[in-house]
Amino acid sequence: MKKILAFAGSNSSTSINQKLVEFVATEIKEHDVKVINLQHFSMIMYSEDEEKNNGFPGMAMGLKKEISEVDALIISVSEHNGSWSAFFKNIMDWLSRLDRNFLEGKKILLMSTSPGKRGGVGSLEYAKSLLPRFGAEIVESFSFPSFYDNFSATSNTVTDETILLGLNEVLSTFAQQIK
Ligand SMILES: Cc1cc2nc3c(=O)[nH]c(=O)nc-3n(C[C@H](O)[C@H](O)[C@H](O)COP(=O)(O)O)c2cc1C
Repeated sequence: MKKILAFAGSNSSTSINQKLVEFVATEIKEHDVKVINLQHFSMIMYSEDEEKNNGFPGMAMGLKKEISEVDALIISVSEHNGSWSAFFKNIMDWLSRLDRNFLEGKKILLMSTSPGKRGGVGSLEYAKSLLPRFGAEIVESFSFPSFYDNFSATSNTVTDETILLGLNEVLSTFAQQIK
């Protein structure tokens, strides 16, 4: 049984990516999945002056420690204007300053969702191209389309059978890959 850390790249209290992460965590039975909410890891906007004058935010060090303690990660990125959110970019910038290879040796399931049909695929593709720069190995990815049409917020489950089949296939491959 491997350790997995799961979170969404969002600071919204009603984040649909966080809901997707929480659902996925319940579907993975063969590993130990810890879900965190990055809202609790809020950090001041990165600037070189901030780093020089005040050092690193405690939250950046806390998150780096959480990441260092697991074998794999599940990350679901929200999409803001075709890319990941400024909130998540800020976190990535701080972590990259702490350690350029902060994702070294980590296998990643990358996901995205949005209310639109493209399911945040622009942000997913951006994350796919960028995370390996920090040492990550993206082993699987999944873009979940039209979140509100295909996910029930009341039962916290995927309502579209075809999407659920596709998602479960990705989850099972991911679970195998990190064994
Ligand atoms: C500034 C801004 C830009 C957005 N741009 C996009 C976009 O480019 N593509 C998209 O599918 N949704 C876009 N959206 C809608 C988000 O996908 C939606 O707000 C979603 O709930 C964000 O994910 P989250 O709830 O996990 O934070 C945008 C939302 C905001 C606030």
